[in-house]
Amino acid sequence: MFGLNPKVVAIVEIGGSLVNSRGIDLSEVLEVIKSPDGLQGVRELWREGAKLPELLEELDCDVMIELTPTDLSTGQPGLDHVRAALQNEVNVVTTNKGPLALAMPALLEIAEYNDVMLKFSGTVGGGTPMLDFAKKCLEGEEIVSIRGILNGTTNYILTKMDAEGVSLENALSEAKALGYAEADPTYDIDGFDSAGKLVIMANWVMGRSLSIRDIEITGIRNVNQEQIENARAEGKTIKLIASCEEKAEVRPMAISRDHPLNVSGTINALTFATDLADEITLVGRGAGGTETASAVLRDLIDIRKSYSMNVPAPQRGA
Ligand SMILES: NC(=O)c1ccc[n+]([C@@H]2O[C@H](COP(=O)([O-])OP(=O)(O)OC[C@H]3O[C@@H](n4cnc5c(N)ncnc54)[C@H](OP(=O)(O)O)[C@@H]3O)[C@@H](O)[C@H]2O)c1
Repeated sequence: MFGLNPKVVAIVEIGGSLVNSRGIDLSEVLEVIKSPDGLQGVRELWREGAKLPELLEELDCDVMIELTPTDLSTGQPGLDHVRAALQNEVNVVTTNKGPLALAMPALLEIAEYNDVMLKFSGTVGGGTPMLDFAKKCLEGEEIVSIRGILNGTTNYILTKMDAEGVSLENALSEAKALGYAEADPTYDIDGFDSAGKLVIMANWVMGRSLSIRDIEITGIRNVNQEQIENARAEGKTIKLIASCEEKAEVRPMAISRDHPLNVSGTINALTFATDLADEITLVGRGAGGTETASAVLRDLIDIRKSYSMNVPAPQRGA
């Protein structure tokens, strides 16, 4: 479909890699991955200690898909992976916010210089195409501001606190039990995850040149029932809002209960204010394995299409 028939030539783990220049049988990988041996179960293809840089040199590959955990302090290991691939003239698809939140302008420049694409649809909104929507469907519009809920965990907690009158601690415990929050929920609760996504949105759709260090960040740690009740008395509810207009910030705000951003649970929502079409709000699931995989697939299809259309590099991004 879409002329896309990808051959996976390497799968890189921390301790080593599966390598086969003729293509790895993914059904076999999906079988062994559930076993105690993991990828090493495909013994004939396992190379102990093989790392990405040497494989980029050795293998003739078109795309590197980077899916390591997000680190918003150093961007690593994703930052090195993305940089190495782009410098080797290999296109990159990533769902990892870390490298982009810290070094997006530089990475886009490396991609352009090497005439390859850096695609990151899955970094914001999971499977909901927030970046693509703004870039492709709002062509011709000036996006004057963006404002939204970009973190499902905090939205779940605030929804629960509002609807059931529970404390932040209790709502957080429930979010952890349901798998919505990590054991260490700092990135979510303190607003860093939202800020990382805001950087990517603002740079990509508003032409800013921000890093996460430029964002004023206040998380939800100090939101309490008294504030929620005061907001309710005014017909409002408290949400963790990420916004970029004159300044870029993340902070809890009381918004009207009938505002389109008043979405509940783990749902994400983003309002684009434009010069011609006025306000447009996109609502959808902000995370989830399958949803985010759909964003990776979209990016792969886009790379495939742009190659067949021979689009020059500066137009090729998320
Ligand atoms: N899941 C979602 O809903 C979602 C949504 C949007 C964005 N994302 C982002 O997508 C990325 C992947 O998410 P995920 O949920 O799949 O995370 P995950 O379950 O933690 O998987 C990350 C994988 O990366 C491997 N890894 C860690 N360090 C590595 C290294 N140096 N070299 C090679 N592999 C390494 C890990 O191996 P070990 O298990 O051996 O440590 C693990 O298999 C993250 O950046 C996340 O923030 C996820």
